[in-house]
Amino acid sequence: MNRRYWIETWGCQMNEHDSEKLSGALEGLGYERAGGPADADLVLLNTCSIREKAEEKVYQYLARLRAARRENPSMIIGVAGCVAQMSGASLRDREPIVDLVLGPRAAGRLPELLARVTERRGIVDTTLYQDGLFRSDRPVRRDPRRVKAWVTVMEGCNKSCAYCIVPTTRGREVYRPLDGILAECADLVADGFAEIELLGQNVNAWRDREAGEWFDGLLRRVGSIPGLRRLRFTTSHPAQFTDRIIEAMAETPAVCHALHLPVQSGSSRVLARMRRGYDRARYLDRVQRLREAMPDIALSTDVIVGFPGETEDDFRETLTLVEEVGFDQMFSFIYSPRPGTPAAMVRDDLPAERKTARLMELQQLQRRIQLERNRARVGRVVRVLVEGPSRRDAEEWAGRTPGNQVVNFAAEGVRAGDEIAVRITAAGPNSLRGEPVEFDGARADRAPRRADSAAS
Ligand code: 5AD
Ligand code: SF4
Repeated sequence: MNRRYWIETWGCQMNEHDSEKLSGALEGLGYERAGGPADADLVLLNTCSIREKAEEKVYQYLARLRAARRENPSMIIGVAGCVAQMSGASLRDREPIVDLVLGPRAAGRLPELLARVTERRGIVDTTLYQDGLFRSDRPVRRDPRRVKAWVTVMEGCNKSCAYCIVPTTRGREVYRPLDGILAECADLVADGFAEIELLGQNVNAWRDREAGEWFDGLLRRVGSIPGLRRLRFTTSHPAQFTDRIIEAMAETPAVCHALHLPVQSGSSRVLARMRRGYDRARYLDRVQRLREAMPDIALSTDVIVGFPGETEDDFRETLTLVEEVGFDQMFSFIYSPRPGTPAAMVRDDLPAERKTARLMELQQLQRRIQLERNRARVGRVVRVLVEGPSRRDAEEWAGRTPGNQVVNFAAEGVRAGDEIAVRITAAGPNSLRGEPVEFDGARADRAPRRADSAAS
């Protein structure tokens, strides 16, 4: 019988995609996916350290794994991702059941490391490798039912935001050559993926000096692959979001008019203390430029409340910015000190209740804004890329607009990957409802169907 693996994933899309790469490597070695951790021969935790809570979840999971390991002493337990990078060998002091610790940049070495771990438990590799990160011969295990495929274009982050652990865990920026990106994207389109999302911690910084291309050129090049319906990218940075990128977005039909542009705070004073490299005016200027070029663009953002030294006035400035921009989605967090970051050295004397109250106030405001914005969409006809059965009601379908909004609808004869016209009939804060319409006589615009095989 083949050996079986189980991967548990926390964190961002880059981590989700790294798990697809880890799965691909394991299946390349003959492993099969287990039904759960208890019946796996190898359990990998692909971890996130962005906030303390994310890190705690890893230790809670490991504590629960102790029983499974007692039942099956030959089970190999590995910790990958950002907690692995941050903690290294000390992870094993805290949780001795861990046999293998591998940082995000060492993930490509999983086959070699596994061969070693069978001889000696306790292998640690947290080298921030610069080369071999983007080898194209490594299999990626994508879920064939999905309509979107992720493609890594760069690794790491050269910024130094005062609160952030990512530059430590993911290392300095390394860019994937243009040729490899284009080849992978073309293969994915040929396989039937209708949508591609380009991934990088600081994706706008991508460049290929030899090819003479910058991120705006990359958007144009990938966007012109025949058959690609939708192109997205994440994560962007306001200081690096140039007019040229805005033009490339507006002029490349496949690029969705949607952007995740983390603002973090509406107060220029706090932004300076966060070392973000832009102020409130620059952020609002980017939003204005984006909306001039793409009036229908959907904007989403991240906000941190309770950064050390954030006053009530600073927080009010975040509220006014959120009101002024009118985001379609927002992810908001209470500041969490991360070991070794500059902000963790600063005195943080705002009581926890004040931070929670700020978060609640911000979230309430955003909920109201989202509801208003979504209600204004009722009656409009939007293009929906069908993703699959609706989560709420398996009789219904769910898809997304180019703005990344979920639309639920009832329809006969549609399939995942179809792009159809839907009239919005009702709106909630987090999703829309609609009904398919005959749109200029053309209904479903059907993408080629990929074979329903496990590997991509
Ligand atoms: N505390 C709270 N939130 C954080 N983020 C990053 N670091 C921290 C931290 N130390 C948030 C930022 C970032 C998102 C991915 O997580 O808003 O954009
Ligand atoms: Fe978490 Fe950041 Fe690492 Fe992604 S890069 S897994 S968000 S710490």
